[in-house]
Amino acid sequence: MTIVVTGATGTIGRALIAELGGAALALVRRPEQGADLGCAYVVGDLERPESVPIEPGDRLFLNSSIWPGFVAAHRAVIDHAAARGAAQVVTVSVRGATPDGLLASGLHGQVDDHLRASGVPWSILAPVGFMQNLPGDVDEEGRIFGSYGPGPVGYIDARDVAAVAAALLTRPVGDDATYELTGPSAPTHDEIAAELARALGRPVRYVDLPVEEGAGHFAKRGLPAPAARDLALLMAQVGDGRWATTTTTVADVVGRPPRSLREFLEQAESPTARR
Ligand SMILES: NC(=O)c1ccc[n+]([C@@H]2O[C@H](COP(=O)([O-])OP(=O)(O)OC[C@H]3O[C@@H](n4cnc5c(N)ncnc54)[C@H](OP(=O)(O)O)[C@@H]3O)[C@@H](O)[C@H]2O)c1
Repeated sequence: MTIVVTGATGTIGRALIAELGGAALALVRRPEQGADLGCAYVVGDLERPESVPIEPGDRLFLNSSIWPGFVAAHRAVIDHAAARGAAQVVTVSVRGATPDGLLASGLHGQVDDHLRASGVPWSILAPVGFMQNLPGDVDEEGRIFGSYGPGPVGYIDARDVAAVAAALLTRPVGDDATYELTGPSAPTHDEIAAELARALGRPVRYVDLPVEEGAGHFAKRGLPAPAARDLALLMAQVGDGRWATTTTTVADVVGRPPRSLREFLEQAESPTARR
């Protein structure tokens, strides 16, 4: 049985390969990407499902960033895994994903529904936002902009998503399930700014923008206007409390609590850089 890891060069993928002690077969898009992964690799692309090397009984970690062909490619890879007799697909979605959701929530919702109907044993990891995003959100003037309002968000360290994936991919295949993953607490963005200030050693403040202003702000930063508006709207939805609760899922699956934001920032090699 082989554990096939897609998205292997990404944040979760690298952490997952480390969790697996290199006992994985990574899919990379370019041969030179395989050299420093620490495991066996093949060259392929999710847009070419047949290039994903699955033998009967293999277990597949299906993950990538979002691009316009994301839904079609992920669905096709799921069909390929089913046809090849995969024993399990573990994928990364987002908490609360629904097919009619905004941005990534909608795309993941469509893929998740396809996976649930595929006939392959499945596990869907549904994390909230990653702590890894936060340091890079601080601008030169020490500001983080968002439209979350005062609502708390239980950000998670992406390495804890990888730890859950590793556990599910190495234990006997269990029941199909969606795993809502959060960090240990749900701070407000004012509290997050205070933690970032502590880690960076300089003032950081959260600037809350009403949705229309948030849309304008993200458009000025280079997002196309519709995506900028959807991003601000999504932040407001998140801030309404839907990511305010924490779950015990990381501890339940992995046997230790998830990392706190402070631990994450203290362990980050360079908390000023997006990782
Ligand atoms: N960031 C968050 O706050 C957050 C929160 C909840 C859920 N998520 C979800 O987490 C996932 C992203 O995980 P991540 O942060 O580990 O990703 P990441 O660091 O952005 O890495 C993306 C990986 O996907 C690979 N990839 C992209 N397109 C591909 C294709 N066509 N074929 C094969 N590989 C492809 C990339 O390979 P290359 O190196 O070749 O580009 C890379 O290995 C997304 O589904 C996202 O919606 C993110």
